[in-house]
Amino acid sequence: MAILDKHKILETNATLLLVFSFLVVTIGGIVQIAPLFWLENTIEEVEGMRPYTPLEMAGREIYIREGCYVCHSQMIRPMRDEVERYGHYSLAAESKYDHPFQWGSKRTGPDLARVGGRYSDDWHVDHMRDPQSVVPESVMPKYGFLEKKKIDGKYIGDLMKANAMVGVPYTDEMVASAQADFAAQADPDSDYDGLLERYGDKVNVRNFDGKPGVSEMDAMIAYLQMLGTLVDFSTFTPAASR
Ligand code: HEC
Repeated sequence: MAILDKHKILETNATLLLVFSFLVVTIGGIVQIAPLFWLENTIEEVEGMRPYTPLEMAGREIYIREGCYVCHSQMIRPMRDEVERYGHYSLAAESKYDHPFQWGSKRTGPDLARVGGRYSDDWHVDHMRDPQSVVPESVMPKYGFLEKKKIDGKYIGDLMKANAMVGVPYTDEMVASAQADFAAQADPDSDYDGLLERYGDKVNVRNFDGKPGVSEMDAMIAYLQMLGTLVDFSTFTPAASR
């Protein structure tokens, strides 16, 4: 019992206890933090990631403005129940262009990290107008006003410039073409070759809300429909098992 008696010295001396607690926490901290300094990058590169198109970026801004993150997360955790419900767990790389990220902290509604492509555009329009019309027990508020508000993407280039400053690889050309690309993505009859050249062939070019002109609804649905669709998980293997 000699060792226990020695422990009594610590337990009866507050200052000494404080010093030793501090030591223990320091060692624990170093063990966790120090290796990160020798890693070149904690975000694994994955194929398919690209910055948001101007229209998606506008949708993301509306998502943030309306506080959708208060009820929705965008991070699928690597646990079986989540992966079976929502799909492949979220990768760090999938939010590397998000400033700020939309991981969220509460799920009143489902996680939206992979909602892209799960429903039709029409479904989204109906659901945003009146969630209870498609999911009767839903507590989600109505966002029908989004389709009444037309937007012209005038300031989206500025936002992209700000994002470029913090490391999102927007080129000068992308910024210069922002407003044109913004309009082109919501109009399948337009000349959208430049948009696809800049952002890839997989970009959805559609009249998302089914009405002429670009509305906030178009931007919102363009954003929702690309969420979680950039990385092709049929060919993805995590670094550890490569
Ligand atoms: C008060 C909480 C709340 C807010 C705020 C909210 N939602 Fe929801 N959302 C829900 C709930 C609950 C559901 C599940 C029932 C349903 O589908 O309506 C849901 C479902 C959804 C779905 C379908 C997801 C799926 O996989 O079935 C989408 C898409 C969605 N919300 C988008 C949004 C967007 C975009 C906003 C912001 C403009 C928003 N929500 C704001 C509560 C909320």
